[in-house]
Parts: sequence; C-alpha cells; structure tokens
Amino acid sequence: MTGKPFSPACERNRDPILAVLREFFSDCRHVLEIGSGSGQHAVHFAAAMPWLDWQCSDRTEYLPGIRMWIEEAELANTPAPVELDVADARWPRAASDSGHFDAVFTANTLHIMGWAEVEAFFAGVGQVLDGRDMAPAATRAGSGAPSSGALRHLLPQAGEGLESGSVAAQGEPGSALRGNNSGVLVVYGPFNHGGAYSSDGNREFDGWLKARDPRSGIRDFEAVDALANMIGLQRVADVAMPANNRCLVWRRTARDLPSPA
Ligand SMILES: C[S@@+](CC[C@H](N)C(=O)[O-])C[C@H]1O[C@@H](n2cnc3c(N)ncnc32)[C@H](O)[C@@H]1O
Repeated sequence: MTGKPFSPACERNRDPILAVLREFFSDCRHVLEIGSGSGQHAVHFAAAMPWLDWQCSDRTEYLPGIRMWIEEAELANTPAPVELDVADARWPRAASDSGHFDAVFTANTLHIMGWAEVEAFFAGVGQVLDGRDMAPAATRAGSGAPSSGALRHLLPQAGEGLESGSVAAQGEPGSALRGNNSGVLVVYGPFNHGGAYSSDGNREFDGWLKARDPRSGIRDFEAVDALANMIGLQRVADVAMPANNRCLVWRRTARDLPSPA
C-alpha cells in the first residue's frame, strides 16, 4: 500500500456521527470499533473524545491502512488495530484496567456482512460488553455460527417497556435508560423500517449490494433490534442521519446483565 486509504463518505458522515457518539459515549472509557475500514473515523472520533480509548479492529487486509492513519495522527488513545472477523471464535478484550469494553461502535458493516455474520456480530458484542470470552459455540459463519435461536437460550430477553417502532424520543437526555455505564452499542448505516426502503437511493444501493454478494443487503431494523434484545440490550435511540442513514443506539442497563454461566 502506497498511501493512506481514503473514504470520501467518511469525511461527509463523521461529524453527524460524532454528535451522536459525544452524547452516548460520554460516560464510556473503552470503545471497540468493528470494521474500522480506512481508519478515518477512528482518528477523528478518538481526537474529539480524548476520554475514550478507541480500539480499532477489522479483517486482516484492512489493518495496514488503519495503522497508517493511527500512526500519522499520533494520538494517545488509539492502540494498534487488532484483527477481528466477527465470525471468529475469540474477540479481543480491552487492554485496560477494566478488562473489557464498555462501548462498541460500527459503521456501514451490517449490510456488507452476511446474516450469519450479523448474528455473530451481536453474539460477540454481548460477550465483550460483559468482559467474557466468546462461548465455544460461536464459530466461523457457515460452520456453526450462532443462530438467533442459539442466542436466545444463552442470553436473557430484554427490552420490556420499549415498543418496537417507537424511536428517537427514547434517546432524549434524562431518559431513565441513560447515565448507566454498563455497555453501549452504536451502529451507523442504512436500515429498512417496516420492510420498506427509506429512499429510492437505498433501494438501488441494496440491489447493487446483492448483485455483488447475494449474502449482503440492507438490514431490517426490526430484525437487528431483535438480535440486540437477545443480548440484553435496550434500544435508546434511532437517530436520522444525512443521506438516509441511521444511528441506532442500544444500552445495557445493570439490571439486564446476564448472570454468569
Ligand atoms: C463499507 S466498509 C465500512 C468501513 C468503515 N466502517 C466506514 O464506515 O467507512 C465495510 C467494513 O466491514 C468490514 N467487515 C465486513 N465483514 C466483516 C466481518 N465478517 N468481520 C469484521 N468486519 C467485517 C469490512 O472489512 C469493512 O471494513
């Protein structure tokens, strides 16, 4: 690789995303980013939120580019990126005194992954937010990756009191769900709601994704929210973003923590 990878989309979306992260990561310390891509988001967010340790991760081929951005930025809060394919059995632990991550961020990844990988993503997030190792059952997608059924018996149901489809207002400052430093997940990207595309552009994008890889595609918000509930996360915000994207935010409250196996 001769120069740093560059994503124009990252330059456009980084400040709207940052506004959401500033609010929901305000009481977090250790963030795991999944699918860091170019690494641009990581240096922008880590510079703007110096109270966070921002741990990048991605599949092997992305790591050299991420390293270039991190090394050039010379920030104190961006450790070297780690290799992570969400379908891998073992996810990284935070190299910190806390021993685990209290926040996970990912952008533009769930529509790239196949559905089995999306399920593995949520299984892994459930484990890192608890500071536990992945269960042995969680293996590479296509060869025994956990299904939502497997997740259901591993993890408690949560989300009582939140109507699916009820959005945005749940993220208002002062909500009873906020202010509890026990695990936050923020996912940025395009989503369908009620089975419908949010724009013609997203419909075309979905067609392009599926032509490239039939396992890919824009995800239904409701299906993703159901996976989050299975790992004990409650949705606290669904923020409209530019270009028909969303920032989905879930939080695990102390009362939702699964008891140790
Ligand atoms: C469209 S890029 C987005 C990159 C960056 N987050 C951004 O917003 O520009 C999709 C990213 O998803 C990552 N990805 C796809 N499948 C993955 C998997 N199974 N495990 C981890 N990352 C994955 C890719 O490696 C890539 O970095």
